[in-house]
Amino acid sequence: MANEWGPLGALAGEWEGEGGLDVSFHHAEGEVGNTVYLEKVTFKPFGPVDNGSQHLYGLDYKTLMFRNNEAEPFHTEVGYWLWDGATGEILRSFAIPRGIAVLAGGHADADAKQFTLKAAVGDPQYAISEGQYLSKNASSTTYDVTVTINDDGTWSYEETSMLRMSNLPEILAHTDRNTLHKTAVHHFPS
Ligand code: HEM
Repeated sequence: MANEWGPLGALAGEWEGEGGLDVSFHHAEGEVGNTVYLEKVTFKPFGPVDNGSQHLYGLDYKTLMFRNNEAEPFHTEVGYWLWDGATGEILRSFAIPRGIAVLAGGHADADAKQFTLKAAVGDPQYAISEGQYLSKNASSTTYDVTVTINDDGTWSYEETSMLRMSNLPEILAHTDRNTLHKTAVHHFPS
């Protein structure tokens, strides 16, 4: 029953988006720059996962971002999106292979077409963890993402990671956004 995945049910499947836009500090050029990217996302439904009286339904996810026609992705994430139907809590736990792990959280109605998740360094629930180097030189102090399920069958996200970087005088808004269209269906477990 896809209903058990709440607002995450609409995301199950495989997706691509060609118009991704990243804003970050590019060390090769020594300045903040834009990167246009192609993204390939897989969301595979699973569940329930039971924590005592809590029953979570989730999406096992992996995303890959590519520059131009490069064969190797320049950014990847692996993790899980989770929905708790009893409380409306949505969780996204993911890792970026720079030494960053994030558990972002928020709340939404089961039929929501838009929801926002947040995390911050030091938050008791929804936290960002990072290794020593990043903590000192490029710390992700807060993270937020807004997901919108569009009427035309696509979905979009906009996310911001606020980076405190040792080489910049001010906190940098490292932003990413994309709109993705479905390339394959994933069936819900029965
Ligand atoms: C679509 C998602 C993302 C893309 C495409 C992306 C892309 C990039 C790019 C292109 C760089 C610059 C590397 C360089 O040229 O030096 C970068 C750096 C970085 N990103 Fe992201 N990023 C994404 C998401 C995130 C998120 C969610 C976080 C944190 C929660 C994050 C944290 C960082 C950090 C800490 C750096 C290193 C900065 C430094 O070494 O100075 N990124 N990212």
